[in-house]
Amino acid sequence: MPDPNRNTALAQLGGTPHRRYYTGRNLKRAVAIEDLRAMAHRRTPRFVLEYLEGGAEDEATLLRERTSYADWRFVPRQLVDVSERSLTAEILGKPASAPMIVAPTGLNGLFRPGGDIALAAAAAHAGVPFVQSTMSNDRMEDVACAPGLHHWWQLYVFGGDEIWQELLRRADAAGCEALVLTTNAQIFGNREWSARTQSSKTSPSIPTLAETLLHPPWCARALRYGVLPSFRNVVDFVPKGSRSFFECAFWIRDHQPTSLSWDTVAKIRAAWRKPFVLKGVLHPDDVRWALDAGVDAITLSSHGGRQLDWTVAGLDVLPAAREIVGDRAEIYVSGGVRRGTDMLKALALGADAVMAGRAPLYGLCAEGRAGVERALEILRDEALDAMGLLGASSISEIGRDLLAPAAPR
Ligand SMILES: Cc1cc2nc3c(=O)[nH]c(=O)nc-3n(C[C@H](O)[C@H](O)[C@H](O)COP(=O)(O)O)c2cc1C
Repeated sequence: MPDPNRNTALAQLGGTPHRRYYTGRNLKRAVAIEDLRAMAHRRTPRFVLEYLEGGAEDEATLLRERTSYADWRFVPRQLVDVSERSLTAEILGKPASAPMIVAPTGLNGLFRPGGDIALAAAAAHAGVPFVQSTMSNDRMEDVACAPGLHHWWQLYVFGGDEIWQELLRRADAAGCEALVLTTNAQIFGNREWSARTQSSKTSPSIPTLAETLLHPPWCARALRYGVLPSFRNVVDFVPKGSRSFFECAFWIRDHQPTSLSWDTVAKIRAAWRKPFVLKGVLHPDDVRWALDAGVDAITLSSHGGRQLDWTVAGLDVLPAAREIVGDRAEIYVSGGVRRGTDMLKALALGADAVMAGRAPLYGLCAEGRAGVERALEILRDEALDAMGLLGASSISEIGRDLLAPAAPR
């Protein structure tokens, strides 16, 4: 089992007592996302963790997504009455309890059976949108049943046009409020650490299988629900002989057209009348093109470090993107959000919201829906307190003046 405390090697540990993250079952004792992460690591097989945590190649993008936040320091205001604080926001015209969105993540059924439904229910409970991935495991119509949910659909284009047209028709009928087209994953990222858990493309290695058996509750849940989950929203588009878990995932990966272009974006924009978001944009020219294509929002994202290695992080390009966009579209940042202060830094640099991927997934692996609720609560509570310490009462008061570069540039 990986040592859940290996990330506690902070500089200030020198001379302090040995520190441990919480790995028990009492969610109230998980005081930070890192505790949920440690709980998740204790309860999840290694091949699932590699899928969850891993980045592409040398994981330089993955690292940058975290360190980009460390490049900024707060310059707080004092003696401001912050007794009435609120993080409430408007995201694509709908109220949200915080400027936060649960990011689209595929294969959530691997973390927990019913993972998409659990994430959606927790997001609805927290009052923030949930984005369901094309590679999700629960049917979008079942996910849509969560009361009060702001449900968005994330589209990967694969196969012929009739597939995305059918998915858009279903998403619209299921009440999805926005469409998120992911632009940076037409070629699957080279996730070597994940590949090392397999003996071939479609089978786990023997040590992987043996290690999985060390997690009886995970195995029992998986066995009860048919071992490995199915991609229920897209499996019918896949040829009959390729519908098992690994084969289906690879068939879809192999049929994502690398010819995806602004022409496809125009066709999808024309076919979808509700709010439209492009996810994966980093280059300033693409920000301009996205505006010309009529998007309602842009997600600056390097896909959790899982696609091209050695890219900048979304946060790095945020100030320039905001300058280009002005108030013509919303901007979200996705990548590396683990703290309420990360959310505040993104807002100060011009974001309308952050999209969190792994943070809610740690909660899901730790304790299912209740764990996701705890993750979202931790992020919101941390942000609310940090906001008070910054001298701000609402998100409109969080501006660039409250930040300074950590080191002179
Ligand atoms: C396990 C996992 C699966 C993901 N699957 C998708 C996906 O299906 N579609 C997508 O647009 N992004 C996907 N992403 C990227 C996330 O939407 C998000 O941009 C990223 O996780 C943000 O980084 P963070 O995990 O540090 O918050 C995935 C990320 C993870 C960790």
